[in-house]
Amino acid sequence: MRLRRRSSEASAPGKVVLFGEHFVVYDSPAILAAIDRRVHAKVRISRGKEITISSVHKLAGSARAESLNMQKIPDSKLILEPLVECAKAVLLERGYKIGLNIELSSYFPVGIGLGSSAACCVAITAAVDSLFHEPIRKWICTKATESERRIHHNSSGADCSICTYGGIMYFTKKNGLKRIRAKKDLPLALLNTKERHSTGELVSSVKSYRESNYPAFKVLAGFSKIISKEALNAIKRSDYLRLGGLMNQNQTLLQEIGVSTKKIQRLIDLCLKKGAWGAKLTGAGGGGCVISIFPPNKHSTFFSRIENNLKKYEPFPLKIDYDGVLIH
Ligand code: MEV
Repeated sequence: MRLRRRSSEASAPGKVVLFGEHFVVYDSPAILAAIDRRVHAKVRISRGKEITISSVHKLAGSARAESLNMQKIPDSKLILEPLVECAKAVLLERGYKIGLNIELSSYFPVGIGLGSSAACCVAITAAVDSLFHEPIRKWICTKATESERRIHHNSSGADCSICTYGGIMYFTKKNGLKRIRAKKDLPLALLNTKERHSTGELVSSVKSYRESNYPAFKVLAGFSKIISKEALNAIKRSDYLRLGGLMNQNQTLLQEIGVSTKKIQRLIDLCLKKGAWGAKLTGAGGGGCVISIFPPNKHSTFFSRIENNLKKYEPFPLKIDYDGVLIH
């Protein structure tokens, strides 16, 4: 394949898991949504044969959240090395051994369950591939998922799928994704516990739980499947009260497998006290973010009157991204 340009840029959205995290690794369904916060990857061919990755500090808009600054985070090497491999994998496939400078910038924090690793893998795969031709989404998703598995070894592939295609989707490992068409915007809010976590470690801890409590895990996975299926119908009917109840039930399962924390529970209680119909952790847990759903009229007042005790958790209304990966 011939080179068609010397530099390129692609971006991919972050994500939230609305239902079914962890159980999705063991073939239960999950529901995910892409969010309007992106990771950008700028790629430039360099003189040498090295691939270097740097990140730029950017402010995260209305969330006021810190942004991805990989060099500053303690386990940055663990993330950066697989990302270099991610770029290499594309070059290998296209038959090139060239040096690249990759500059990453993100509009949401890393390590809080919003899919920064998946978004980085998708954006880098797309940006590098677009040096050669117009990339195909299915290929980006497959390649990015392989790369994400170098970061989170047992990943289900759900995160890379939603970051590639955007929107809201019902995902199973066996059948991949099915797009869900919501008639209205979901009145969702996100709060950041500021507790950073490692998805890989949490997935491993659930694996251990499953190995030592297999019958109980099977029952919980069965419940998770029913909840996700019910949630699919509730989204289609715009029944947010039902959706809230299902979120609360899902949270109970996540507590049971040990991925919730005291702080997550405290934020959930705060949301429910403020009138949310339901709330749960989103993503791997062990910290990260809490997602809640409000009655539509309370959703806007929640944000217009944020009290001091909540401000530090940077609550922001969640908007769904329908674009997925973009080449700029
Ligand atoms: C992380 O966003 C979701 C998990 O279910 C892991 C995975 O699906 O790979 C915890």
